[in-house]
Amino acid sequence: MALVSSRLLFLLSAILILIQASALPAPLLPPTCNNNNGNYTSNSTYEKNLNQVLYSLYSNTTIDYGFYYSSYGQNSDQVYAIGLCGGDVNPDDCRGCLTNCSTLLTQLCPNQKEAIWWYSQCMLRYSNRSIFGIMNSTIQVDLCNNENVSANYVDQYNDDVHILLNNLTSEAAAGGSLRKYAAGSAITTDFKKLYALVQCTPDLSEQDCTNCLLIAIAAYPQYCAGKVGRSVLLTSCKIRYEDYSFFHSTTAPAPSSTNTTTSPPLTNTTTTAEGNPRNTLWMVIIIVVASVAFVVLIVSICICVYLRVSSPREKAAENIDEEIPSVESLQFDFSTISAATDDFSEANKLGQGGFGAVYKGTLYNGQDVAVKRLSTNSGQGDLEFKNEVLLVAKLQHRNLVRLLGFCMERNERLLIYEFVPNTSLDHFLFDPIKRVHLNWEKRYKIIGGIARGLLYLHEDSRLRIIHRDLKASNILLDEEMNAKISDFGMAKLFLLDQTQSNTSRIVGTYGYMAPEYAMHGQFSVKSDVFSFGVLVLEIVCGQRNNCF
Ligand SMILES: *[C@@H]1O[C@H](CO)[C@@H](O)[C@H](O)[C@H]1NC(C)=O
Ligand SMILES: *[C@@H]1O[C@H](CO)[C@@H](O)[C@H](O)[C@H]1NC(C)=O
Ligand SMILES: *[C@@H]1O[C@H](CO)[C@@H](O)[C@H](O)[C@H]1NC(C)=O
Ligand SMILES: *[C@@H]1O[C@H](CO)[C@@H](O)[C@H](O)[C@H]1NC(C)=O
Ligand SMILES: *[C@@H]1O[C@H](CO)[C@@H](O)[C@H](O)[C@H]1NC(C)=O
Ligand SMILES: *[C@@H]1O[C@H](CO)[C@@H](O)[C@H](O)[C@H]1NC(C)=O
Ligand SMILES: *[C@@H]1O[C@H](CO)[C@@H](O)[C@H](O)[C@H]1NC(C)=O
Ligand SMILES: *[C@@H]1O[C@H](CO)[C@@H](O)[C@H](O)[C@H]1NC(C)=O
Ligand SMILES: *[C@@H]1O[C@H](CO)[C@@H](O)[C@H](O)[C@H]1NC(C)=O
Ligand SMILES: *[C@@H]1O[C@H](CO)[C@@H](O)[C@H](O)[C@H]1NC(C)=O
Repeated sequence: MALVSSRLLFLLSAILILIQASALPAPLLPPTCNNNNGNYTSNSTYEKNLNQVLYSLYSNTTIDYGFYYSSYGQNSDQVYAIGLCGGDVNPDDCRGCLTNCSTLLTQLCPNQKEAIWWYSQCMLRYSNRSIFGIMNSTIQVDLCNNENVSANYVDQYNDDVHILLNNLTSEAAAGGSLRKYAAGSAITTDFKKLYALVQCTPDLSEQDCTNCLLIAIAAYPQYCAGKVGRSVLLTSCKIRYEDYSFFHSTTAPAPSSTNTTTSPPLTNTTTTAEGNPRNTLWMVIIIVVASVAFVVLIVSICICVYLRVSSPREKAAENIDEEIPSVESLQFDFSTISAATDDFSEANKLGQGGFGAVYKGTLYNGQDVAVKRLSTNSGQGDLEFKNEVLLVAKLQHRNLVRLLGFCMERNERLLIYEFVPNTSLDHFLFDPIKRVHLNWEKRYKIIGGIARGLLYLHEDSRLRIIHRDLKASNILLDEEMNAKISDFGMAKLFLLDQTQSNTSRIVGTYGYMAPEYAMHGQFSVKSDVFSFGVLVLEIVCGQRNNCF
């Protein structure tokens, strides 16, 4: 239960972090102060005009679509300013943002006639030249999300991003003179969500807005290649896309061109004053309901998982009873095997391993088998040997060579395995002619197969088996060149204690053995992984580990 509740806590905190992350504004970088456009002197008319413009930027207007334009002064002292808030920012936050931004910007760009800053949720820009309705596509900010797109989908992801951004571009450009903003999401080729928003200052014409956004979309395609998200902020427009939701969904701008008498002098459009609180109320209700539903869902999932996890013992036992083959079904007559292998003829000999010779055989029913004739005395009694065979026979995985049975008569001890036709990996890897069969794809598949088999031995089977002698000649290849690990569990069959981590009897092959195992006999999952690493190097470079 403790485990479950800590998982639950983890989930909840992850959700909280996500919720916070999705409310994060655009990244904050220093402003651009345009030195080329000259300085003004302190106490000059320009400074006074600038302060006046910034002060009155949004106080003179009641239109709250998050765009403010103002100009003040005459001749060379005239100051122009533009303020723009993200299309998803509510009016109060927008004013707060612009207030903070204007204070800081005049401090950070002291005495600069022209400056621009994309500041958290808003953008502020002023100049001594007219900037209203003039598209400027200088890149101010270009940031990547450092998360990588999953490797196989990089190209598709780019396409998905472009389709979504292009759709949003046409939507935003057509947005009218009050707001040119569009945000949306799409499902990517690999079934993940993709979120994007685009925005122009609405003083631009539809064509200029389109051009500006297209410049942003096409800017330095290599810059964030393979990353899940990017923000490109130009002087007159911005785009951003991420693999998480980073904008608040807004109600449609709906510039209700009703000729209400309360409309402000500048324009005949207005937001209904009561509209916003109502929307906020709905938003709150929706968010609360959604959060509650989400938490309930998570809790019930956790409970389900907990119930499943807590009662597996009996089930596992049942399953194993079904799966464990009986001793009888596994035990073969010596005469059967002798006949199958043509009395262990040299012609049928496949090789000689550390524990004995291996023969190919064909049973009465036509099934091909590989028979390992154990030469060394296993050191254990018949009963223990049978029990260990039963345990090893239970290890079944498609990347393990399957143990079909055993034979115990007179002094003979035989192990009968499934026959794997394409011999072992070393025959391919180190043979100058046969190695051409191993292209990168096959090698990759083989490495993956070995890793899966090893993971099963180490983690996923009920017995933890440490192989201790993983090497190229112990990797067999079936007809489709799938890797199958062989000779696992030998330590079990040979009375080498798998539970003690120190052993006096070292099995293994120099070159593959981890130093601590070779020198002190300490073996562990880690020493197997060491051997796996050596094996991977061999597979990749096609050289034996001991003949460089
Ligand atoms: C404006 O002032 C800055 C320092 O505040 C200085 O670096 C820059 O050279 C000045 N530019 C002009 C045109 O005087
Ligand atoms: C803006 O100021 C700079 C430097 O003082 C000046 O060269 C430029 O002509 C001014 N622009 C306008 C439109 O007045
Ligand atoms: C600007 O004006 C203020 C008060 O009017 C004065 O205290 C200050 O010294 C002046 N600064 C400069 C640089 O003239
Ligand atoms: C703001 O409104 C006042 C009065 O309506 C007007 O005198 C002033 O010029 C306006 N300021 C701007 C920057 O439009
Ligand atoms: C503006 O600055 C104040 C104080 O620095 C801060 O409390 C407030 O949250 C800021 N508002 C916005 C919208 O950034
Ligand atoms: C665009 O803005 C940058 C500063 O943000 C300025 O240096 C440049 O001169 C502007 N270009 C035009 C055509 O106004
Ligand atoms: C993304 O992939 C690059 C190499 O392609 C790697 O250096 C970087 O650490 C990866 N970043 C993350 C967050 O996984
Ligand atoms: C983009 O627009 C096209 C045509 O308007 C539409 O068929 C397509 O579904 C849209 N794609 C996205 C991702 O919105
Ligand atoms: C693997 O074995 C199958 C069946 O025996 C055979 O058809 C195939 O050619 C073999 N592959 C290689 C690379 O020898
Ligand atoms: C294994 O041997 C090392 C030294 O050879 C010793 O420090 C360690 O305690 C031993 N571990 C066990 C489990 O016997």
